[in-house]
Amino acid sequence: MSQSTDVMEKIVALCRRRGFIFGSSEIYGGIGGFWDYGPLGCELKRNIKEAWWSDMVRNPPIGPKGVEFQMVGVDCSIIMNPKVWEASGHVGGFSDPMRDCKECKLRYRSDYLIKIFLVQVDEIPKESTIHSALDKIAGKTAAVSLLVDAAPGTSAADHGPAIKRAMGARKVQIVTIPQSDMPPFSLIYWIIDGKNYFMPSQYVGTSMKDMLNCPNCGGELTDPRAFNLMFQTYVGALQEASNIAYLRPETAQGIFANFKNVMDSSRVKIPFGIAQMGKAFRNEINPRNYTFRSREFEQMEIEFFCKGDEFCKAGEVTPIEWWEFWRDVRINWYKSLGLKSEHLRPRNQTKEELAHYSKACTDIEYLFPFSDEPQELEGVAHRGTFDLTQHQTHSGKDMTYFDDETRERFTPTVIEPSAGADRFTLAVICEAYSYDESRASPEFMRFHPRLAPIKAAVFPLVAKDGLPEIAEPIYREIKKHFPAQYDAKQSIGKRYARMDEAGTPFCFTIDGQSKEDSTVTVRNRDDASQIRIDKSRCLEYLREQLRL
Ligand code: GAP
Repeated sequence: MSQSTDVMEKIVALCRRRGFIFGSSEIYGGIGGFWDYGPLGCELKRNIKEAWWSDMVRNPPIGPKGVEFQMVGVDCSIIMNPKVWEASGHVGGFSDPMRDCKECKLRYRSDYLIKIFLVQVDEIPKESTIHSALDKIAGKTAAVSLLVDAAPGTSAADHGPAIKRAMGARKVQIVTIPQSDMPPFSLIYWIIDGKNYFMPSQYVGTSMKDMLNCPNCGGELTDPRAFNLMFQTYVGALQEASNIAYLRPETAQGIFANFKNVMDSSRVKIPFGIAQMGKAFRNEINPRNYTFRSREFEQMEIEFFCKGDEFCKAGEVTPIEWWEFWRDVRINWYKSLGLKSEHLRPRNQTKEELAHYSKACTDIEYLFPFSDEPQELEGVAHRGTFDLTQHQTHSGKDMTYFDDETRERFTPTVIEPSAGADRFTLAVICEAYSYDESRASPEFMRFHPRLAPIKAAVFPLVAKDGLPEIAEPIYREIKKHFPAQYDAKQSIGKRYARMDEAGTPFCFTIDGQSKEDSTVTVRNRDDASQIRIDKSRCLEYLREQLRL
């Protein structure tokens, strides 16, 4: 098991044990791709959504060149008129190519099925560069090539069983060697039945003709078929084609469909944004990596409407400048809530990846412990005038904007920062997870104070001798202002451990000395240090330290 898989397993175990995340309907064996948030998890996710709404909608940042803009919110229905999804392109195009195994019936996204190959080498270096590793295999033929499922979020270690089967091996072990010219990436070697093999990090795409076998059982795969990701339902009593409707696969279209309503009712002026957060549903072929790729998830989306290049006067902020602005705002927002810069990567989509109408799109990616490569948290896309034009064509309603200063009428250009609330929650959990063997309670969650589900705990050292009488009023005062917990049971060490796992930044403990000099101890979650303060200062101390 690789170190990162091990970390992920510990995170998943802690999340379940402490009530952050449970599998949906677990008592019936669960259901793939659906998750429930427990008492701590729902507070955490709520804090995340509130931080987004507060920082992006209620108090949006100031734009380039000091331009202030309005941001308003909407909360639209999940089921909309199906024509919305025809106009947006989802009915025709929101599909993944899939291949099924004729033997074991597992289903794969064919664009994630990738051919890898292994080349035998004499020895495994301690450290290497990709160039020196490639030099060593130049001219050699591959010992084996096989098809593996390399969906985003899988790591090389996941290919072990497929390699074992393809090579008929008894023992297969992965060895990751630091890539000295490109930390923190590693080069992948395998020891297979005692022999060493190098696996070049460049995967090789497979073509339709290149029909390799199922990574799970070696069975024959079907040809790729298009599989629409929208969940279908029927509206009304009759299950007939005219009643088909869809659960929304994104919140964005509710915003576009209400563009005119918002303009007419709230007197917003370009540039302005409309935001929405809420549930979205996609029948993902392979939900995986905990909550990362779910079938039901929440999005936090902004559609930002600005003037297209042809309508910008000299000195006005152009669409590409707005796009750069949103990209930077969103990366900095993640950093401000505790994601480390070295775990975040803005990645510009390549020309091949870009939608035909999109001029630019940056994926803001995060290095989750379950993956060798950073994975998408949010996309910041320059969508041009595509969406409003589509809805104007399909609905026959005017979706243009009239600028009463310049007397010009135009279809606004759209910049779309589209984030996933559950993906960010998972990133926050992974970033917060800390393990320090020297502590009495080695596992603790270093949440940013703004996101921590519980901000403080109050403990009487023992539940007698007049200590609860001092502790209870302190707890009652704090909980009027911050989420707090009171706990008088079990040893003080166990109580600290519980709060460390919940990520509670401060614990106040009332002990024998409190009766003599009115002081209490404050324990800091991050370094387990303790100081004494006067009991009357608990709330004030918390306010100063949390700076909320
Ligand atoms: N309106 C644009 C749009 O929906 P997207 O890249 O498909 O773009 C935006 O989704 C964000 O929604 C992603 O960056 C991710 O955070 C989140 N997201 C998408 N699919 C998801 C899934 N299956 N599970 C969890 N989050 C998902």
